[in-house]
Amino acid sequence: MSNNKQIRLGTILHGANGNMSAWRHPEAVVDASINFEFAKDVAIKAEQAKFDFVFVADGLYINEKSIPHFLNRFEPLTLLSALASVTNNIGLVGTVSTSYSEPFTIARQFASLDHLSGGRAGWNVVTTPLEGTAKNHTRKQHPEHSLRYEIADEYLDVAKGLWDSWEKDAFVRNKQTGQFFDRNKLHTLNHKGKHFEVAGPLNVGRTPQERPILFQAGASGAGRALAAKHADAIFTHQNTLEEAQSFYQDVKQQVIKNGRHTNDLLIFQGIGVLIGESAEDVERQYQETAALVTIEDALNYLGRFFEHHDFSQYDLDAPFPELGTLGENSFKSGTDEIKRKAKEQHLTLRQVALESATPRPPFAGTVEQVADKLELWIKEEAADGFIIAGATPTTLDTFIEKVVPLLQQRGLYRTEYPGTTLRSSFGLKHPTNQFEQSKKDTVHAVG
Ligand SMILES: Cc1cc2nc3c(=O)[nH]c(=O)nc-3n(C[C@H](O)[C@H](O)[C@H](O)COP(=O)(O)O)c2cc1C
Repeated sequence: MSNNKQIRLGTILHGANGNMSAWRHPEAVVDASINFEFAKDVAIKAEQAKFDFVFVADGLYINEKSIPHFLNRFEPLTLLSALASVTNNIGLVGTVSTSYSEPFTIARQFASLDHLSGGRAGWNVVTTPLEGTAKNHTRKQHPEHSLRYEIADEYLDVAKGLWDSWEKDAFVRNKQTGQFFDRNKLHTLNHKGKHFEVAGPLNVGRTPQERPILFQAGASGAGRALAAKHADAIFTHQNTLEEAQSFYQDVKQQVIKNGRHTNDLLIFQGIGVLIGESAEDVERQYQETAALVTIEDALNYLGRFFEHHDFSQYDLDAPFPELGTLGENSFKSGTDEIKRKAKEQHLTLRQVALESATPRPPFAGTVEQVADKLELWIKEEAADGFIIAGATPTTLDTFIEKVVPLLQQRGLYRTEYPGTTLRSSFGLKHPTNQFEQSKKDTVHAVG
């Protein structure tokens, strides 16, 4: 193997794979989002291709205008637990919101998944963009953007503290002496903060990865700061090489400012991929899938980012409407970008809606062209890896059959897993237990 920087790959389980109307594609599995055999098939194929992980996104509020495969889908941790039992090496990353859950429950569930899977659990920490979510959780109000990130920061301190409840060898289980655990290796958190009061300890022992891998998805300043402090990986999406490089630089510098090493946080670009035999073939496939989305579908898709705003009230071919602060308390980084682009490029509502719902996949081309672009983005420090979203229901298969072997031939991608945990696939060091560390520090200070 050469010294080339290695590409890391994940894939997202996202309905039938493709745009919001991909379920209508002739080759689509119509009920993909609630079909375990489909999810299992994707996970097994991705594992055969030595992918680092499968990724499950999530949301906690729907209405009749939501994306079809959001209307009826598996809860991430339940799905990943089932996938754990039919796979051996691939990481299992699921999305859970810190704005609408309790740290004790979620720390426990991810610790359980880490044990069940032999060290393959990953948590994609999100703060929940959709205001309607409050209505499903007995809340009067959706917390505003900066408060959500403040809550997330304390939440992750609590979760990490709970995962440190037990030292690795705390459970002695000595049948002769009757000693089940070593009292000195049990630590009670006793957290009392602004948003949470959590005594602990956690009722799950130290996990195979010491603690699950933490992903963060959220690209605003506050999102990046949270990731730089707490996360092992970021799920992000930038359109151009330059934008991705600037994001990469900014986050890695913040990681250093947090006293961490740049390699302690891996940046994954979520990318749309479309593979064809020629430029014409790529265009044909794109047009075929784009045509599945009606303009009404596209307006609903766009509306979701702006609190399910009703865009059907505007003239489709007039300039994109002035929306004031709408969107700032939901998908802030995404809605800021949509507004900026519409203004700069003088786009109409129709153009913005179609661009949003049926974007041209940025990684589109022949097998060689797609491989070249992946290589370029890694070499030019725009990403440490990619989360592949196939633009059609069959793109992921083509990627695995053709692009992966080419990357392997070029020495850019693994042919074997380095170990059995997601942490080992990522090449991340094992975190120390904060209580064990302070015990050692005390001994040193006294000694
Ligand atoms: C690439 C990406 C993926 C995301 N995935 C999810 C998701 O699966 N579920 C969710 O509730 N929010 C998701 N979010 C939303 C964020 O968690 C966050 O609430 C929202 O984007 C606002 O934060 P930001 O302005 O920092 O991006 C995602 C955001 C990004 C940028």
